[in-house]
Amino acid sequence: MKHMLVIATALFVAVSGGALTLARAQAPAKKTVWDGAYTKEQADRGASAFAANCTNCHGPNLEGTGRFKALVGNTFWNDFSSRSVQYVLNYISKNMPNGVNAGTLDPSTYIDLMAFILSRNDLPTGTTPLTAQNAADFEIIPKDGPRALADKTLARVVGCLAKAGSGWVVNNATAPERADAGAAPADLGTRALGDRSFQLLFVLTRLDRMAGHRVAVRGLLVGEDGSGGINVTEVTDAGATCP
Ligand code: HEC
Repeated sequence: MKHMLVIATALFVAVSGGALTLARAQAPAKKTVWDGAYTKEQADRGASAFAANCTNCHGPNLEGTGRFKALVGNTFWNDFSSRSVQYVLNYISKNMPNGVNAGTLDPSTYIDLMAFILSRNDLPTGTTPLTAQNAADFEIIPKDGPRALADKTLARVVGCLAKAGSGWVVNNATAPERADAGAAPADLGTRALGDRSFQLLFVLTRLDRMAGHRVAVRGLLVGEDGSGGINVTEVTDAGATCP
């Protein structure tokens, strides 16, 4: 396995108290699927589209068939927890119905199917229809709060870089969040820190000039929720001392 380390300088650096307040005020409150991401009409249309295109493989009650996954319950929560509805919508729009017909349905039909899948996971309806755009605003989170991310999930944390013996750790760190693409979050410089610590594994580049800085670390979690550390692919320096 190859381990790559890219060091970038963050564009977002909090320079003053004023800038900090502004950045916080502008960050929209994150919505979740419990806030009503779709309408009943969409889910009803989605039910017919599902019967016509999806039951062969995923079963009439989305319970899965021998070879194909369930789209409800544990499978849904494990695979999509801490992702946006847009992520799942994009996935089905591109890959389903699996096979030669993948991606051939109407874009609005995929949105209806997404609404139907949400409804079958007992998520509430709302008054505003789901769209390709607002799907990004709704995070998939179980009712009792976020699940721990599984071993080997590509994730990132924000925290304070410190030397520990011959290696490195990130202290005062946020809980890991999924990070499929991109390096640092937009609010790298201002995000509230947490109380977690992560050991950084396979660090091949010298991090000395970032010691004591606020950083974003991206990589594969080792152990559930990174209990065994983070197998680092990328470290981004916020340029500010920490915490
Ligand atoms: C020919 C079989 C087939 C059909 C038809 C089909 N799927 Fe799938 N679906 C798959 C396969 C294969 C996967 C990959 C995961 C797996 O092995 O089950 C998958 C995965 C998914 C996933 C991701 C599940 C997860 O937990 O990762 C969703 C959501 C999904 N399908 C929705 C749909 C929808 C909506 C339709 C109808 C438009 C549909 N599928 C039609 C075979 C099928």
